Amino acid sequence: MRSILLGGEADFTGWRDHARSLILADVPPEDVSFVTQDGAPGLFEEASHHAQPQGETEFRVPRRFVELAEQAALHRDADRFDLLYRILWRLRREPELLELASDPDIARLHAMAKAVGRDIHKMHAFVRFRAVVTAEGEQFVAWYEPDHHIVEAATPFFARRFTNLVWTILTPERSAHWNGAELLFGPGATRAEAPKEDELEALWLSYYASIFNPARPKPQAMRAEMPTRFWHNLPEARLIAPLLAGAEERTQEMIARAPTKPAVRRGAKHPDPAAAEQRAEAADDLLQLKREALECRACPLWAPATQTVFGEGPKNAPILLIGEQPGDQEDLAGRPFVGPAGKILDRALADAGLDRARAYVTNAVKHFKFEPRGKRRLHKKPSVGEIRACAPWLEGELTLVAPKIVVMLGASAAQAMLGRSASVMKQRGRVFDLPGGRHGLVTVHPSYLLRLQGDDERHEAYQDFVKDLKLAVRFQAKQA
Ligand code: URA
Repeated sequence: MRSILLGGEADFTGWRDHARSLILADVPPEDVSFVTQDGAPGLFEEASHHAQPQGETEFRVPRRFVELAEQAALHRDADRFDLLYRILWRLRREPELLELASDPDIARLHAMAKAVGRDIHKMHAFVRFRAVVTAEGEQFVAWYEPDHHIVEAATPFFARRFTNLVWTILTPERSAHWNGAELLFGPGATRAEAPKEDELEALWLSYYASIFNPARPKPQAMRAEMPTRFWHNLPEARLIAPLLAGAEERTQEMIARAPTKPAVRRGAKHPDPAAAEQRAEAADDLLQLKREALECRACPLWAPATQTVFGEGPKNAPILLIGEQPGDQEDLAGRPFVGPAGKILDRALADAGLDRARAYVTNAVKHFKFEPRGKRRLHKKPSVGEIRACAPWLEGELTLVAPKIVVMLGASAAQAMLGRSASVMKQRGRVFDLPGGRHGLVTVHPSYLLRLQGDDERHEAYQDFVKDLKLAVRFQAKQA
């Protein structure tokens, strides 16, 4: 029996390299066992990949296996690498093996990959950062205990979401540190038990100094520089509060839903808009459609955004309002029109005689497009391609809600519905026919009102906005 030592609990690349040579040398699964070394490979290990396998091989495996194996390899089961090797060995002889869902090895592979996927989702929803203010500025730290070996796989998400912050996530096995430019991994925090809230600070201070800042010559001096540090609870951290607020609900939703195949595979160069379209067509209710949209990768906007912001409102709402795209607050809260533009919209709807709760409110584009500017994220107008990539979701909402009238708020919404750049000011204020027997009305976007400087001008524009909305309200009432 050969025993192969891998470079760590999450060393899928090491396993793959060994497995390939072993398969080519015709070593049967009974003769080999994979073990993982405990502990971390070094203080500072960059989040890059291990060396690629040497030379060409003729052994090909289905891409689906590689995807499943890469995820299952992070399972805490000590036999996982042996299982993967056994499946690999069998795949050579039974090319259809992956299709046999009832095969015990394949069933286990799927179960493990699924458990790891859920664990990653859970970590994304449950990590709670606390802020510490140091002489170097504000930093964030979190303690988390994942079920599986997912730290390397799960933390790039936080780097995308909190690009402009400096943060550390400590776990018993591995720890991740984002310094604003680079994601670094180190050993786990050596504590038998999870620290209590007020112990986290001390743990982080010693951990950060000893692990993630080895270049710092005098850790003690560094600590002495921090007499004014203080801790906030996460709700006071502007960017993270809504994440916390919705964490429980989101996690339940994530756990409840079966993982769906992403519309773009990892490593694929171009996302696949057709996949979004097929999934939108397949969904038969709004919740299902929303779940599908949460996984959308049809354009690149998903990556820096916090989450898909889907529409909301009653299924049979008589009025469906379309905005442009979620803003900063909507991106964090996961709900459309909850920020300043949303406040104006609510007021104008009420003044037009419609309770917002009776309307379905959505956006042409379901991810926040922004440009980072220091700690702020500045709104950027979505492109025609991005509006088009999102069209299947909007079409799905329109079909399922079947409103009596569609109100397009601003140029991007008009573009999404009419397929051309519309002059809002010329087209506003009248109900017209839309393809498919629908009816529509164009008006200004509420954020246009926010941009107006003079009180009189703003007041007048608001009255015109309400007038347009009243037209829509009257139209739908006549259709009832
Ligand atoms: N602006 C929009 O167009 N949509 C929102 O959800 C918020 C602001």
